[in-house]
Amino acid sequence: MLGDFVYCNPTKLYFGEHSLDGLAKELPNYGKNVLLAYGGGSVKKSGLYDEIVKILKDCGKNIIDLPGVMANPTVEKLYEGCKLAKDNNVDLILAVGGGSVCDYSKAVSVSTYCNEDPWDKYFLRMEDVDNKIIPVGCVLTMVGTGSEMNGGSVITNHAQKLKIGHVFGENVFPKFSILNPTYTFTVPQYQMVAGFFDIMSHIMEQYFSNQDDNTSDYIAEGLMKSLIHNSKIAVKNPKDYEARSNIMWTATWALNTLIAKGKTTDWEVHMIGQAVGAYTNATHGMTLSAVSLAYYRKIMNFGLKKFARFAVNVWGVNPENKSDEQLADEGLKALESWMKEIGVVLHIKEFGVDESMFEGIADATFLLEGGYKKLTRSEVIEILKESM
Ligand code: NZQ
Ligand code: ZN
Repeated sequence: MLGDFVYCNPTKLYFGEHSLDGLAKELPNYGKNVLLAYGGGSVKKSGLYDEIVKILKDCGKNIIDLPGVMANPTVEKLYEGCKLAKDNNVDLILAVGGGSVCDYSKAVSVSTYCNEDPWDKYFLRMEDVDNKIIPVGCVLTMVGTGSEMNGGSVITNHAQKLKIGHVFGENVFPKFSILNPTYTFTVPQYQMVAGFFDIMSHIMEQYFSNQDDNTSDYIAEGLMKSLIHNSKIAVKNPKDYEARSNIMWTATWALNTLIAKGKTTDWEVHMIGQAVGAYTNATHGMTLSAVSLAYYRKIMNFGLKKFARFAVNVWGVNPENKSDEQLADEGLKALESWMKEIGVVLHIKEFGVDESMFEGIADATFLLEGGYKKLTRSEVIEILKESM
């Protein structure tokens, strides 16, 4: 059964090889001062930065440069961006990069005019925004998070050993996003496959919840099938436009709120992965891949029918003469062999995790109720052990 819901996604998308043309169409909607946020240098190397600066100048904009947004953006960097935005009376934040730059720009957007510490208000206390919001636009260069069409913003506080995501409302979604699959061609293989697993994880977090017949789950199955098919092509030939464009579109739909409609959702893998990330600063998608198999094996028996359906509908396992247990087990084995084929990290020790960190990581893991089983703290520690 579908529960009641409201659906509205206000982000306007420009998709395809010529999608950057959309930037000049959007810019007249905003004032003169544009904060240009980007990462550690990939956009300068690729030439995209120069292209964007030219478009901004041609449209008469005053550019405030904000380089160095790191993967897993920190709270200190957030404070720096807020000061820059306020001092320059910024009218638009243009994020050029991956999920980290997009997330970061949303955090600056809601925090610049916040009259208290935004880390406390938005990330520790999870409060809504009640101050001025600076509009955000994105030019996406790395695929995975879905940040280009959602309200998510994940910030890391290394001093407190916490990595926390706030899912803001529609007023914080990017006003527009430019998705050009060719920009993703230069993403290093490790980051690329981490992004692929991040997409899969987003879909599984929303798929593995209730067991009712639900249109959202049929959409999720289609997205997973497209991702599995195209990821196998992309790992062999990262410049395959057909595969990369399908994956880019799949990533957006995997986390733009659609497939969560009318049902509960899990997100426990992300909670454990984020806690591992807070301790190691490891790549987001890899923290998820390294803990997923242990997590799903632990909860499988509490959602057996759905895991059996996953095996048959997503992985094409033949159901004849098999129990739900057998099917569920074969589905997870198929997931594991796909993970090995695309080459994601399967063990948290690869990030430098050792047993002395288990208690701290478990303390930093939020225990959620939306999945088939609410974990206990000691089950989180078991999952960490099994993921070593
Ligand atoms: O900094 P640069 O030099 O640009 O390099 C980046 C970065 O090192 C590089 N890169 C990006 N595009 C490139 C490129 N290198 C070459 N060519 C390109 N075209 O890739 C590295 C990783 O980038 P990053 O933005 O960190 O990756 P991703 O998109 O995976 O974002 C990860 C962040 O998003 C959060 C994660 O927790 C993490 O902090 N998430 C956000 C979500 C949301 N908004 O809903 C949900 C996700 O679950 C996730 O938690
Ligand atoms: Zn994710």
